[in-house]
Amino acid sequence: MTYRMLATEPQASSWQLPPAMSDTAPPVDNTYNFIFWFSVAFTVVITALTLYFVVKYRRRPGVRSEPTGHFNRLEIFWTVTPTIFIGILFHVGFSSWIKNATAAEGATEIRVRGKKWVWEFEYPTGDRVPSELVLEKGRAYKMIISSEDVLHSFFIPEFRLKRDAVPGQYSFIAFTPTVTGAAHVFCAEYCGTNHSGMGATVKVLEPNEYQEWAKGLGKCVGTPEECVPERYGESLFAKNACTTCHGVGGTGMVGGSKGVGPKLAGIYNTMQPLMSGGPVMADENYIRESILRPNAKIVQGYANVQMPAFVLKDDQLDAIIAYLKSLK
Ligand code: CUA
Repeated sequence: MTYRMLATEPQASSWQLPPAMSDTAPPVDNTYNFIFWFSVAFTVVITALTLYFVVKYRRRPGVRSEPTGHFNRLEIFWTVTPTIFIGILFHVGFSSWIKNATAAEGATEIRVRGKKWVWEFEYPTGDRVPSELVLEKGRAYKMIISSEDVLHSFFIPEFRLKRDAVPGQYSFIAFTPTVTGAAHVFCAEYCGTNHSGMGATVKVLEPNEYQEWAKGLGKCVGTPEECVPERYGESLFAKNACTTCHGVGGTGMVGGSKGVGPKLAGIYNTMQPLMSGGPVMADENYIRESILRPNAKIVQGYANVQMPAFVLKDDQLDAIIAYLKSLK
């Protein structure tokens, strides 16, 4: 397979920052530059004033120092003004963070798995590719990040993206690549002997080049259970007898009447009312928790049902979640 894209020059880097390759970069860079120049300005002003006062109020023969007074208006001014600046900085940082945390409608989901000491990427077709992530320019993505062993951190400086991969839960990051080219993926959390070698390459292709590349996906030879996450999840759902209580297809219907467990079809990304009050978002983390620790958050109406806890491997959990997400 050939990539023309490597000849494409990435966007020029600034004197401090690497080239910018995703839609996350402009707000992050603007915030960074704002904080940087804000700090430079204050450092210069404060240092200059300090030096000026050192000279102006130096000890002189015959001049007695007077105790400093109290000036309420000045004290209010230098308390309120920085507070306002900190509020503005918080707003700028938080709104950019929210943008990364919220995936666009119809974003392509890619699973990112960290393990000692390699990154593995799983495409919606079920293909798992180690150490190389290929993306399409202009397409919205959502990365579902997990770890199979210890803490790792998924970091692409050119995309201005970093998110921890925490064992036992999923973390998410959303973005759109805006520039073609190649960049490095790093692990930004010390994870053992070969932490520094835990890298991967990310390549952003033009849509037509991506289509060409994507022809190589979905060519898994084997049963659907081995190749398609949803079908693997469906077989695990049956094998673990989830259908006994939740019904075939997660309909909540068993043998024509209401099953022991709640309906699962169509609940993904909806709010579910809990016994303990307050709804919960039925997202990936909630579904995972409900399989591993069913009594942690019980939905209303199922107080007396004792669902057993299941012991499953990460990729099995991922497959079951993929299956439940596919149920409408
Ligand atoms: Cu993985 Cu450091």
